[in-house]
Amino acid sequence: MNIHILTLFPDMFPAYLNESILKKAQAMGQLTVRLHNIRDYTTDKHHVTDEPPFGGGGGMVLKPEPIFTAVESLVADLQSQQEMEGVPVILMSPQGRPFTQTIAQELAGQERLVLLCGRYEGVDERVREHLVTDEISIGDYVLTGGELAALVIVDAVTRLLPGVLGAEGAAEMDSHATGLLEGPHFTKPADFRGWVVPDVLRSGHAANVARWRREESLRRTWQRRPDMLLTAVLTEEDRWFLGQLAQESVAIGD
Ligand SMILES: C[S@@+](CC[C@H](N)C(=O)[O-])C[C@H]1O[C@@H](n2cnc3c(N)ncnc32)[C@H](O)[C@@H]1O
Repeated sequence: MNIHILTLFPDMFPAYLNESILKKAQAMGQLTVRLHNIRDYTTDKHHVTDEPPFGGGGGMVLKPEPIFTAVESLVADLQSQQEMEGVPVILMSPQGRPFTQTIAQELAGQERLVLLCGRYEGVDERVREHLVTDEISIGDYVLTGGELAALVIVDAVTRLLPGVLGAEGAAEMDSHATGLLEGPHFTKPADFRGWVVPDVLRSGHAANVARWRREESLRRTWQRRPDMLLTAVLTEEDRWFLGQLAQESVAIGD
């Protein structure tokens, strides 16, 4: 996957991109990230990227010309309009659609992505209307700029690229990937300050371990995110277990 990031602050990225899974994905050739400084696409003497808003009010607004030129130059780099056709140009925005694991999976199926990081009061509305194809928010709060949001997307998407996590870190069982939260994990020591790892995990009985994990995943989702159970794909056995949880919570007056 090739990800192009348009930002005023490209130096914010390398520390995160060059460690751990993202570093590995790049070394494997599964991920290429190209950082483009929006300022490099200005044509005026002072390299102005932002201006005060028409109509007054506080803050500055990112000008449309350098952003359009940056995206259009990617088309030129790719040598053909066709290569760029259908490529999502995604604006990081607190007004965008809320980012989820489902959107990460959707984006992981793309060959290329363009992520546009806003700053100040955001981008000129014509960028939204005539350039970007999507807007994504990483949560209902306002950040200073889109750089962290872009990194969140790059990270979540890269984990889903083939072979990047390897078998032992497979993403299929992660929280949200299955529509449920993942259950608890334990590692050595088996007894830490008298808090003992559940026997079943040390039993070596694969089917029992799998069932325990499924039930703990259901329990955790029931406790923390019951809304997710409305859309999760559940078996008869899962429904029976949830029924048990419901009875238990009635019994203890939860
Ligand atoms: C200070 S914010 C601008 C907020 C804008 N004035 C508004 O009220 O919608 C500057 C930039 O940070 C990024 N940003 C802020 N919060 C974000 C969020 N929750 N998700 C994604 N990007 C965000 C966007 O790129 C935005 O253009």
